[in-house]
Amino acid sequence: ALISMRQLLDHAAEHGYGVPAFNVNNLEQMRAIMEAAEQTDSPVIVQASAGARKYAGAPFLRHLILAAIEEWPHIPVCMHQDHGTSMPVCQRSIQLGFSSVMMDGSLGEDGKTPTSYEYNVDVTKRVVEIAHACGVSVEGELGCLGSLETGTAGEEDGIGAEGTLDHSQLLTDPEEAADFVKKTGVDALAIAIGTSHGAYKFTRPPTGDILAIERIKEIHTRIPNTHLVMHGSSSVPQDWLKIIDEFGGDMGETYGVPVEEIAEGIKHGVRKVNIDTDLRMASTGAIRRHLAENRKNFDPRKYFTAATKAMKDICVARYEAFGTAGNA
Ligand code: G3H
Ligand code: 13P
Ligand code: ZN
Repeated sequence: ALISMRQLLDHAAEHGYGVPAFNVNNLEQMRAIMEAAEQTDSPVIVQASAGARKYAGAPFLRHLILAAIEEWPHIPVCMHQDHGTSMPVCQRSIQLGFSSVMMDGSLGEDGKTPTSYEYNVDVTKRVVEIAHACGVSVEGELGCLGSLETGTAGEEDGIGAEGTLDHSQLLTDPEEAADFVKKTGVDALAIAIGTSHGAYKFTRPPTGDILAIERIKEIHTRIPNTHLVMHGSSSVPQDWLKIIDEFGGDMGETYGVPVEEIAEGIKHGVRKVNIDTDLRMASTGAIRRHLAENRKNFDPRKYFTAATKAMKDICVARYEAFGTAGNA
């Protein structure tokens, strides 16, 4: 059944778990997420970016998610729009039937230029007004996502601030977060705590303090009823990285956010955990390996099945690690 993000994350907060929000662009990702949710008895957040709508087309994406709800009617599914950059983008998603939208007013409509606090408050507040009138939840964002190690947003093809960010922009200010929530009425808030989008988050194996856990605690204490969202939460699995490079890829050395660090964040108020890169890596690695090992095959269903299995395994692991399992 379709469920709003507010309903789902209120339950998560009450029971102290987190929910991975997986990006979805195609059938294989959708099936992997749902099969994993079915196996682990987990509620689901699937999110579509502007890039996903461009790739699949809005009607196809909408029906892909609705088809999942039809096939697995007993699993609660939140249909979320990832990184909306303007009011019209959010309105279009509400019209399409999404149960939740993100208005990312931390960046301008180009998805690159950091905005003023006043702009962010104003545009987010207006989206909350229309979304709530339709029973749709809203996620806002305060602070600029960027790696605390490299100081860059690190997104190749989507959303991310340009250039190098200074330390204060990379960590959401707790006082400002409280003011932002009071003025906008958002249900969930994406905070900057040292992660960045994409596969190139950290150049060295992350030590235990890669996330600003203290900052999460401070923010959570100020806004206990607003669900915290962690973007850029892929772990960049080293086994898939090796397979990709072994079978003709060239990703090089790079590291993501350890799952244990995310679990620590969940203890302190993180409820929605955005993951895209890990599923991209698993499917690419599985397809590269399958094609290399089955050189006579030309049936796409065979390598897409391998990709779906690889993505499903990641989803199962995240549902278990974040405490989502058993809560559908
Ligand atoms: O926000 C970034 C997500 O990974 C979506 O990426 O815009 O390439 O679909 P995308
Ligand atoms: P990753 O690139 O770490 O998977 O983050 C995805 C994300 O934050 C989507 O909004
Ligand atoms: Zn994001």
